[in-house]
Amino acid sequence: MTKTNKKPIPFLDAAADFHKRKKTWIQALTKIGETGRFILGEQVKTFETKAANFLGANNAITLANGTDALILALRLAGVKEKDEVITTPFSFFASSGAICRLGAKPIFADINPRSFAIAPDKIESRITKKTRAILPVHLYGAPANMTAIAGIARRHRLAVVEDAAQSFGARWKDKYVGAWGDAAAFSFYPTKVLGAYGDGGMLTAADASWASRARRLANHGQDRLFHHTEIGGNSRLDEVQAALLLAKLAGIKDDIAARQNIARLYGEALADISDIVLPERSEEGEHVFGLYTLRAPSGARTRLAEIFEREGIGFGIYYPCPLHLQPALSFLGLKEGSYPEAERAAREVISLPIFPSMTEGQVARVSEVCRAVFS
Ligand SMILES: Cc1ncc(COP(=O)(O)O)c(C=O)c1O
Repeated sequence: MTKTNKKPIPFLDAAADFHKRKKTWIQALTKIGETGRFILGEQVKTFETKAANFLGANNAITLANGTDALILALRLAGVKEKDEVITTPFSFFASSGAICRLGAKPIFADINPRSFAIAPDKIESRITKKTRAILPVHLYGAPANMTAIAGIARRHRLAVVEDAAQSFGARWKDKYVGAWGDAAAFSFYPTKVLGAYGDGGMLTAADASWASRARRLANHGQDRLFHHTEIGGNSRLDEVQAALLLAKLAGIKDDIAARQNIARLYGEALADISDIVLPERSEEGEHVFGLYTLRAPSGARTRLAEIFEREGIGFGIYYPCPLHLQPALSFLGLKEGSYPEAERAAREVISLPIFPSMTEGQVARVSEVCRAVFS
């Protein structure tokens, strides 16, 4: 296949974001360098307050990454060995990996094919005496149906731990994701809607006692200097990442609006292609388009991927294998056919480039290439 000589379009352009904020970033770095305080200082404190205020969450605790946030949130919810946690089979591995790392068992409920999130009507039949929590994932920037999930949890006295790693700023009804559950996990991995320049994460918690315990557990269970009340670890976010995240948080509404505008343009350009299914724009929530993910059934995805490659257009497949078929989870004994919607999504999804500085011209070119595949 011959390659095009047109300018490549990256899947995302983190360097463009760096250039946009370079001045603020260097000023912040200089300030931190001059104070000499690199861990648990003012930047972390201020970021936590502002992030919690933004999300309408009662408490926010920054952490080293989103995976730690999930493990801690589950631990706060009392999840322990042999417990069960109901979750989605279609996500990044961390959402189930975190459950397993506490010795508990992920119990899958299939997804809603439009939102890609766990289908609330599949949850209740999975509840047993061992169920401790429900862990919905807000995938791609789209919120899961939190009213339904919170209702089920209330009826069965289960905790809700939201995986909001991909969806900072997404909203379900009148509340942001991360403010619905007993606790929620965010990731600031560089590719996320709110991304750091390295790893970072955050836990939000409704209850103040959960929040103070999370803070202790993220610092070796220390309640005061060199006094450890329980075994925790080191999962602190550093000052440099917090300063960068503060600068980015100030512009997050603009970044989200830019993503939503790109999604609108893709929607307009691709709406009449009957072979693809565009991301759902639910009336009940707000999608922040961390990823712009289409469904392209039966061979069309392969064709799209080949042409994107030839045209120098970045794309991603999130995720090509559902969690119940991952080798690391084979001990669950689940076979192909167990979760047909998750399996179908894994065969059909493809994500197009989307990042706040993407130009209308770039969106038009990606759309044109898509259209050519189906013409
Ligand atoms: C859905 C989901 N959960 C959890 C994580 C884990 O976050 P981190 O990479 O910050 O540990 C990610 C990161 O990609 C994610 O996409």
